[in-house]
Amino acid sequence: MMWQASLSIFLPVLLPGALAATTYDMVKEFSGSTFFDGWNFYGKFDNLTNGDAIFVTSSVAKSSKLAYVDSTTNRAIIKVDNTTKVALSDKRNTVRISTQDEIGVGSVWIADMYHVPYGCSVWPAFWSQAPNWPTGGEIDTFEHWNMELHNEMTLHTNPGCQQVSPAQTSTVVNSTDCSFSSNSNAGCGVMDPNDSSYGAKFAAAQGGVFITEFAESGISVWFFNRTSIPTSISSNSSSFSIADLGTPVANWPTGGCAIDTFFKPQNLIFDITLCGDAAGNKAVFAQTCSGICYDDYVVGDGSNYNNAYFDVASVRVYSVAGTTKATLRPSSWAAD
Ligand SMILES: *[C@@H]1O[C@H](CO)[C@@H](O)[C@H](O)[C@H]1NC(C)=O
Ligand SMILES: *[C@@H]1O[C@H](CO)[C@@H](O)[C@H](O)[C@H]1NC(C)=O
Ligand SMILES: *[C@@H]1O[C@H](CO)[C@@H](O)[C@H](O)[C@H]1NC(C)=O
Ligand SMILES: *[C@@H]1O[C@H](CO)[C@@H](O)[C@H](O)[C@H]1NC(C)=O
Ligand SMILES: *[C@@H]1O[C@H](CO)[C@@H](O)[C@H](O)[C@H]1NC(C)=O
Ligand SMILES: *[C@@H]1O[C@H](CO)[C@@H](O)[C@H](O)[C@H]1NC(C)=O
Repeated sequence: MMWQASLSIFLPVLLPGALAATTYDMVKEFSGSTFFDGWNFYGKFDNLTNGDAIFVTSSVAKSSKLAYVDSTTNRAIIKVDNTTKVALSDKRNTVRISTQDEIGVGSVWIADMYHVPYGCSVWPAFWSQAPNWPTGGEIDTFEHWNMELHNEMTLHTNPGCQQVSPAQTSTVVNSTDCSFSSNSNAGCGVMDPNDSSYGAKFAAAQGGVFITEFAESGISVWFFNRTSIPTSISSNSSSFSIADLGTPVANWPTGGCAIDTFFKPQNLIFDITLCGDAAGNKAVFAQTCSGICYDDYVVGDGSNYNNAYFDVASVRVYSVAGTTKATLRPSSWAAD
């Protein structure tokens, strides 16, 4: 009898996850000549992850062409400086941008990219966080470093958020504890076993799309390479059903992590740092690169960085059909 009573109480909680056929409508698009409108440029050295990098201001990014729209492809390029000779003890210029928009629970973001940064000492990410990290959480849709071959998807939160019973295609779970205070803030990471999810193979396959669903029922990430993008996404429709995407590559259901509690509206971020806490950690660096991260790569003429760029066709933001779960700001290229 007790068992039946609890079942009737908990059944409604289980249903939303089981249905999972939410329709999303596009509420914002960053693309083409206005791609960089509505992003703030960090404008300071990397004081966040101890990288040997200076995240330039918007005016330096523009004048030195570290953030620009390619006139042939009409796609956005976000890159590390590969033309300046950096002297020993100096840092190298690169870019970190974050949206002025804050995107709440009940949203999806889709990044369509043709190339992502890679190479020894390079640590790129396309990710999001709430302003008062770790409160409000962090969602890393795309991240890896050095000469790794696969994308890593990770959440970072306050203590108490775990990945429990995920419905995901990836079989490589690095950690299920999302707390920033566990495992040196490694977060709860899932690796994409698909070869085309990072590095040279991503570029050779002409990239693909990363789709992040930020829902009350859980957080999910899909990756589709160029030839396997579902038609409802590649057709540029302003609306799509999550049911069209199949099982995500990574999934963190609300059962182990109360999404509404651990996550608040997110700013989307692109950044590329150099060496630093993860990529520059000696043991991590040695997994795929030789030599000394800063001395042998950052210092010098910059030819190491010819592949250290994002090539982005668009970033689109969606909300549950009929709603706007994002606080959207009026957009223009940010002043310094
Ligand atoms: C980094 O610099 C910014 C801007 O000066 C400052 O607000 C922030 O507190 C610094 N962060 C850390 C971790 O030092
Ligand atoms: C996750 O685990 C895989 C398989 O063991 C490993 O190759 C990868 O480097 C790990 N990722 C991180 C970020 O440690
Ligand atoms: C693209 O993804 C499909 C589906 O997973 C896979 O069969 C194909 O080999 C991938 N292409 C490349 C170039 O990796
Ligand atoms: C690779 O990605 C495709 C979708 O593009 C997915 O169907 C497949 O399960 C993935 N393979 C692995 C090993 O994750
Ligand atoms: C989708 O939109 C992009 C950018 O506006 C364009 O390059 C592409 O050709 C469109 N694709 C389709 C199938 O309409
Ligand atoms: C810098 O890298 C770009 C590709 O990102 C390449 O087209 C360019 O030739 C490189 N510049 C130099 C000086 O090597």
